[in-house]
Amino acid sequence: MPVERKLGFKEKQGEVLREYLTIVRSFRQYLDKKGVSQRSKHQDPQQVLKQFHSSILTCRGCSLYRTRTHLVFGRGSSQAEVMLVGEAPGREEDLEGRPFVGAAGKLLAKELAKAGLRDEDIYIANVLKCRPPGNRDPLPEEIEACLPYLKRQIEILHPRIICSLGKFATQVLLSTQQGITSLRGKPQFYDESTIIIPTLHPAACIYNPSWENLLRRDLALVKTKLSGED
Ligand code: URA
Repeated sequence: MPVERKLGFKEKQGEVLREYLTIVRSFRQYLDKKGVSQRSKHQDPQQVLKQFHSSILTCRGCSLYRTRTHLVFGRGSSQAEVMLVGEAPGREEDLEGRPFVGAAGKLLAKELAKAGLRDEDIYIANVLKCRPPGNRDPLPEEIEACLPYLKRQIEILHPRIICSLGKFATQVLLSTQQGITSLRGKPQFYDESTIIIPTLHPAACIYNPSWENLLRRDLALVKTKLSGED
């Protein structure tokens, strides 16, 4: 006779989370079918995002407007179920006005492709919309001024999965001081229907090439959750 193994607390938590997400997914599909979901035709996320982008283009909420070339809003599919969130634009992003177009962006694109995440699956934005001079760490007042913009983007897109890239985005989105090495790869709730999967920042993987494997593993988990295989 098979012996039933008692689940540990962590395993039990994981099981409950999986069951909960299955229910949420079914409910979302049901609402989509009824045409009453938060992504219903009455509220085209692309239009809403566009209007929102226009409304913050001349933002002077903190001093970073003085040194920016472009406000870097975000890019990707407005139908995306996965939202990637980085820290702040770097030099190339500031010049081009698009997130993750520099070296870190190239590494990220390579790993996204390896994970089987397609352009139509994802939307990419940062916590800060303007580049801190010399790529210094964001200041508390800059975060305070800019975070509502990211939160509004999340509200409009209503992604199923947020993948926070690096310590900074992860700590801000989860309101925690815990380090990224202990948080990465472990799904947590952002709200009742969105999970966050923290991972390492691609720029950090350039400096520590052995970390790229961990980024790869976490993006594979994002893909698994997106496909509903877990
Ligand atoms: N690093 C980030 O966090 N965001 C970018 O857009 C580019 C580099």
